[in-house]
Amino acid sequence: MVLVLLGPPGVGKGTQAVRLAEEFHGAHVSTGDLLRAARRDGTPLGRKAQGYMDDGELVPDALILDLVREHLSEIASDRHVVFDGFPRTTAQADGLGGVLAGLGRTVDLVVLFEAPDETLIKRLSGRRTCPSCGAVYNVFFNPPEVAGSCDRCGATLEHRTDDQAATVRRRLEVYQEQTAPLIAYYEGSGAAFERIRADRPVEDVYADFRALPEVAK
Ligand code: AP5
Repeated sequence: MVLVLLGPPGVGKGTQAVRLAEEFHGAHVSTGDLLRAARRDGTPLGRKAQGYMDDGELVPDALILDLVREHLSEIASDRHVVFDGFPRTTAQADGLGGVLAGLGRTVDLVVLFEAPDETLIKRLSGRRTCPSCGAVYNVFFNPPEVAGSCDRCGATLEHRTDDQAATVRRRLEVYQEQTAPLIAYYEGSGAAFERIRADRPVEDVYADFRALPEVAK
C-alpha cells in the first residue's frame, strides 16, 4: 500500500507516520527528514535547501522529486510506503504519480489530518527533536524524562530553527497557498480519501488512523 499523509505543519503527520510504518514494517518517507539529513551532511542538496527551509518556504519541486525518486528506488516494490510531508504541490503529486506508475504502483490512500491553527502553533513551539536518533518530543504534551535530553539515546534535544514563531506563521500560509489544493486534487483521484481530527491525544488519533477500513484490512 502507498499512503500519503496530508495536513498542515505540526498536525502530527510525522508522529502518526512513524507509528504506522513501525507497526506494518513499512518505509516512512519524510521529505523534511531527508532534507534535514542532507543539510547535516552538507550535501549540495542540503546547501540548496537550507535557505528555503529557514524561511518557511517550499524547496523547489525538481529538487524534491529527484530526492524522492532516488529514495524510492531503494525501497522494495512490495513494501508499504508512508509519505509524510510529500507531495506538497500539485506538480509534486503529478510527479509522484509518474514515478509510482513506472514501478507499477499507485497512491492507494490519502489521509488528511486537521487541527486548528492555535493547536499547531503550540505544538510547533513546544517541539524538541533528537538530532541523533530522530525521536520527537513536546515540552507541553510529551516531554522527555530529563528536560533537554533524549530518552532513547541521551543526545541533547534541539528546537528546529523553522519552529520559531515568524517562520511557523509563514509555513502555515504556504500550506494554505500551495499544499491545501492537494485536498481537491486527491479527492478527485482514484485513491481513497479520509479525514481525521488530529487535535486529540496521539493515542486517539492513532486509533482512528489504524481503524480506517483501508488500513485495518
Ligand atoms: P517538514 O519537516 O515536512 O515539516 P512540516 O510538514 O511542516 O511538518 P512538521 O514536521 O512540522 O509537523 P508534523 O505534522 O510532522 O507534526 P509532528 O508529528 O512532528 O518540512 C520542513 C521544511 O522542509 C518545509 O517548510 C520545506 O521548506 C521543506 N520541505 C519538506 N518537504 C517538502 C516538500 N515535499 N516540498 C518542498 N519543501 C519541502 O508533531 C509536531 C509536534 O506536536 C511534536 O512536538 C509532537 O510531539 C506533537 N504532537 C503530535 N501529535 C500530537 C497530538 N495528537 N497531541 C499532542 N501533541 C502532538
